[in-house]
Amino acid sequence: MKIGEIVSNKILQGEYLQVQFYAPEICGIAAPGQFVHVKIARLRDRLLRRPFSICDVSEDGLLTVVYKVVGSGTEVLASLEPGTVCDLLGPLGKPFSLPADHELPIIVAGGYGAAATLLLAKRSPLKGVMLLGARSKEDLILTDVFANAGFTVKTATDDGSCGLHGRVTALLPETLAAHRDQKIKFYGCGPTPMLLALAKILQDKGYHNGELSLDHLMCCGVGACFACVVKVKADNADGWRYARTCKEGPVFRVNEVYLGDNDG
Ligand SMILES: Cc1cc2nc3c(=O)[nH]c(=O)nc-3n(C[C@H](O)[C@H](O)[C@H](O)COP(=O)(O)OP(=O)(O)OC[C@H]3O[C@@H](n4cnc5c(N)ncnc54)[C@H](O)[C@@H]3O)c2cc1C
Ligand code: FES
Repeated sequence: MKIGEIVSNKILQGEYLQVQFYAPEICGIAAPGQFVHVKIARLRDRLLRRPFSICDVSEDGLLTVVYKVVGSGTEVLASLEPGTVCDLLGPLGKPFSLPADHELPIIVAGGYGAAATLLLAKRSPLKGVMLLGARSKEDLILTDVFANAGFTVKTATDDGSCGLHGRVTALLPETLAAHRDQKIKFYGCGPTPMLLALAKILQDKGYHNGELSLDHLMCCGVGACFACVVKVKADNADGWRYARTCKEGPVFRVNEVYLGDNDG
């Protein structure tokens, strides 16, 4: 088998697909929250790679990515058959730090944020709570996998088709009340508005022990082009500075997240 060779590429659920690459070197060193930069075979603008979170890795060198078709790159990726070889760069980016043995992880995720936090859930010493939000029931992915990893899964949907009818952050108060005697570490990954709402709640309530993955459009993926910047808090007159999500992130501490206008 060749490095980067697609071993399987199929529908996971609803609009989400799951691709597995043979990538033993990356699997051996990948940490939760990191990503691979994929040069998608047969894509016309092949120079531009596409970033995808590492969802899972196996001992026999299979790297799993969960993705949704949103444009030309992911459309071509979805059409690739097993045996096709893609060039993978990675693992890239600053990972989540694992919770300490006594810390209960509470993960708040939306969209492919579930995929980006699965390795974290699997490697957490204490199994905690996964709060997963989506537009509708069919967009709630990997719930059984998180449950099998020992996490309690609570869901929220915009249309009320599964779990709480509303935003995923609305699940926080009862979850916090249920674990008020435990030391909690928060993690978040998902759409930017969800992450900013989560960061505001955590910062306002003084829950500083947490990390959020701020994904942004990327180009080089290795810190050279500044295409991927977001504003993070800084001790200067503006109160913020630009940080490259591919190099200084995508994972940032809750306290670093800048809550003003943050479109990068
Ligand atoms: C660190 C990181 C990890 C990611 N992990 C995953 C993952 O696990 N699964 C997954 O499905 N996607 C993930 N993405 C997003 C993924 O990279 C894009 O969906 C993909 O590059 C789109 O390529 P495309 O050619 O199909 O679409 P394009 O034609 O490039 O874009 C189509 C549309 O998607 C929007 N878009 C593209 N990238 C992003 C982004 N990063 N954030 C918000 N909107 C975007 C564009 O603005 C445009 O509207 C990740 C992005 C980053 C930065
Ligand atoms: S994508 Fe080039 S610096 Fe981040």
